[in-house]
Amino acid sequence: MNDMNRTTKGRVLSGMRPTGKLHLGNYVGALRNWVNLQNDYDCFFFIADWHALTTDYADTRLVKQNSVEVILDYLAAGLDPERSTLFIQSHVPQHAELHLLFSLITPLGWLERVPTYKEQRENIKDKDLGTYGFLGYPLLQSADILIYQANFVPVGEDQVPHVELTREVARRFHQFYPRKIRQGDRDPQRDTVFPEPKALLTPAAKLPGTDGRKMSKSYGNTIMMSEPEASMRQKLKTMVTDPARVRRTDPGDPDKCPVGDLHKIFSSQETMAKVYDGCRTAGIGCIECKGWAADSLWNVLGPMQDRRRKYETDPKLAWDILEEGSKKARGVAEATMMEARDAANLSWDYEPPSQTAGEGK
Ligand code: TRP
Ligand code: SF4
Repeated sequence: MNDMNRTTKGRVLSGMRPTGKLHLGNYVGALRNWVNLQNDYDCFFFIADWHALTTDYADTRLVKQNSVEVILDYLAAGLDPERSTLFIQSHVPQHAELHLLFSLITPLGWLERVPTYKEQRENIKDKDLGTYGFLGYPLLQSADILIYQANFVPVGEDQVPHVELTREVARRFHQFYPRKIRQGDRDPQRDTVFPEPKALLTPAAKLPGTDGRKMSKSYGNTIMMSEPEASMRQKLKTMVTDPARVRRTDPGDPDKCPVGDLHKIFSSQETMAKVYDGCRTAGIGCIECKGWAADSLWNVLGPMQDRRRKYETDPKLAWDILEEGSKKARGVAEATMMEARDAANLSWDYEPPSQTAGEGK
């Protein structure tokens, strides 16, 4: 049976580590895409708070607060609790149980070879990442994905190897533990517990930060999704431009300008045409051009901040959405775990001795 038929629309799952308030790079690189996926798929989006602890275990004070920031940004972006299941990882303990089952069958070499593991071990020097949990980071991610029997995982390029690992872990699980088909089974054709998920690569739009480098929290060049209009406009004013355009009378090239990149992402065709023409002929100044970029940006940020306001005045609302979503997620996760436990001969339903004796396995 085709895995896709298991939920009529196909299931999507993705998550983010709670790093605090999200910025436009997070929006363009992930959230914007998630919002659109809600129209076509059965979506599960979550806050990966345990994943945050794999690097921040020594000081966990900010994790809860950061998780609240992230749910506010999820809702502001337009993730819709009526259509998507929004939840928090640590409120669904089944993730940890499945992670443990996977840890039993996963060769160390598979984890040691994951590119993000090697990179982070080399790059992050202020934390001791020589831990069991950090090595297991991508395996916990595999459990996140497979426990919802997800078909599609929207992620950026760096995460694709994690989805690949997930497929391999699923295959290995099935080699050891084929699904048991019981009387009255909800899906008697299916002999595997987990579908093999595919990465949905998020097209990487180049979103520059105010200094022209990739927008990133660690560079301090971000514009927040919750950035007030005035400070957003101020940040654009000081944003770097095409270095060839020194004087107002020098022509420039929007293709070589971070502000031009912003226009490409947020501005209408009409504005784009004015920018290309005005910049290349020195008909407009950068100040004017940046003003238009700010207008375009505000067309996106304004409505998000309108949506956000009601949750900010009453954070309990957002909290309740997470609780509700987590409850629903637990139901789905537990149904998968019942199959996974059963496959691994861990289910402990009483069976009369006469039926099981001498059956071997
Ligand atoms: N590792 C992902 C990141 O750093 C976050 C994540 C955790 C995730 N579990 C996931 C993403 C499951 C997709 C699916 O961005
Ligand atoms: Fe960049 Fe606009 Fe100035 Fe051209 S006019 S260099 S696109 S800011």
